[in-house]
Amino acid sequence: MTTAHEVDKEKFVALLNEDLGTEYQSIIQYTNHIATISGAEFTSIVTELKAHLVQELSHAQILAEQVSFLGGEPGTTVPPVERNADGRKALQADLRLETEQLERYRERFAQANDLNLADVAESLRPLLEQTQEHVRDLRMALGD
Ligand SMILES: [Fe+2]
Ligand SMILES: [Fe+2]
Repeated sequence: MTTAHEVDKEKFVALLNEDLGTEYQSIIQYTNHIATISGAEFTSIVTELKAHLVQELSHAQILAEQVSFLGGEPGTTVPPVERNADGRKALQADLRLETEQLERYRERFAQANDLNLADVAESLRPLLEQTQEHVRDLRMALGD
């Protein structure tokens, strides 16, 4: 049985490396937003963002370790980070990135299983669960 998501191992490692880049992007973006978002209405979400930031570092570490384990070279490239003076727009950018990551990890989990890499799929489980939480936190803060 083949699925639309099916990839070979080399492509899978390349995609994991792209995932790693998006986590570096999250680390920079959250660091910037925590320092720049102001206003009483954002106090509680900024506290949440600080918790996200710590988890993004662990996501980056997990991805780099899996790339290395699979024989790849963990990347160090950071995609461009959006800067936003407006707090709401900054949070919308965070939500876009988290939503994209959730899609990526769902796909990566399925691909790992298709490649019979159950151990790699399991290592992605915290990324899936925590990324969904981050999406929920941001949706709640934005009221959508
Ligand atoms: Fe993450
Ligand atoms: Fe996240």
